[in-house]
Amino acid sequence: MIEKRRLGPVVGLGTWRTFDGDADLARDVVGAAFDAGVRLFDSSPMYGGAERSLGTALGERRDEATVATKIWSESLQAGRAQYTDQVDWFGRVEIEQIHNLAAWQEQLEWLEEERAAGRIDRLGVTHYAPSAFGELAKALRTKRFDTVQLPHNPRERDCERELLPLAAELGLAVIVMRPLGEGSLLRRLPSAEALAPLRDFGVETWPQALLKWVLSDERIDVAIPATTSAAHARENAAAGSPPWFGPDERQLVEELAA
Ligand SMILES: NC(=O)c1ccc[n+]([C@@H]2O[C@H](COP(=O)([O-])OP(=O)(O)OC[C@H]3O[C@@H](n4cnc5c(N)ncnc54)[C@H](OP(=O)(O)O)[C@@H]3O)[C@@H](O)[C@H]2O)c1
Repeated sequence: MIEKRRLGPVVGLGTWRTFDGDADLARDVVGAAFDAGVRLFDSSPMYGGAERSLGTALGERRDEATVATKIWSESLQAGRAQYTDQVDWFGRVEIEQIHNLAAWQEQLEWLEEERAAGRIDRLGVTHYAPSAFGELAKALRTKRFDTVQLPHNPRERDCERELLPLAAELGLAVIVMRPLGEGSLLRRLPSAEALAPLRDFGVETWPQALLKWVLSDERIDVAIPATTSAAHARENAAAGSPPWFGPDERQLVEELAA
């Protein structure tokens, strides 16, 4: 296994339910994110045509990007076919994750061979449901993974019980999905006055406050908000740099999100 290195703290870009097979939209959103400093892009065979669109959108800047995508199948044959497509679209995959723990013990065997041969940098595993966190912890305890992807935001904190401490103990890089609660945390926006104490931390907007809340936990490396908007991609990327929140600012965000 490669030596564990941190990936962040940084803002990445998620691609679920965003540009799908729309290569023009992908070029806009990925281009805006890239120009704003985003380098890690998360995708999956489950996200329609998102992987192919992402590959096209990265274009000549591909070498500067970190592609984090996934293998999502109960079948070894289908899993390998997904990987073949990814190599076509991306040239190689920096972070290959087993999506939703699908056949993880079986898929891990051949993925480890790819990592040992240097064709994949890191192997990860993901799940979105707290009911699967026991199995996710079991997978991490094998010490065969380098990264874990899980949901975390002020209203979804189940990972704090076992997974975040375990990831820290094992030196795993943590990638956070759903940092904006799939948009549910954005339905009611706090006033500018309520956000004023966060301004010295570079926070101008509520999505930035939520992203900075995630990244201010030192056990977390990357937050991957998804967006269909170039302007939102720029806004989100701006939350990926210090200064980070302390306990008071984190608590304020939790209260505003409650
Ligand atoms: N949700 C899951 O179960 C799951 C599972 C596995 C992996 N993931 C990965 O995690 C990524 C992120 O999770 P997610 O997509 O579920 O949810 P999310 O990133 O928490 O929220 C996405 C929603 O937030 C909105 N948004 C983003 N930035 C905004 C901004 N600055 N201002 C206003 N609205 C904004 C987007 O709408 P606009 O398009 O209008 O910006 C979209 O509706 C996924 O794309 C995927 O790569 C998710």
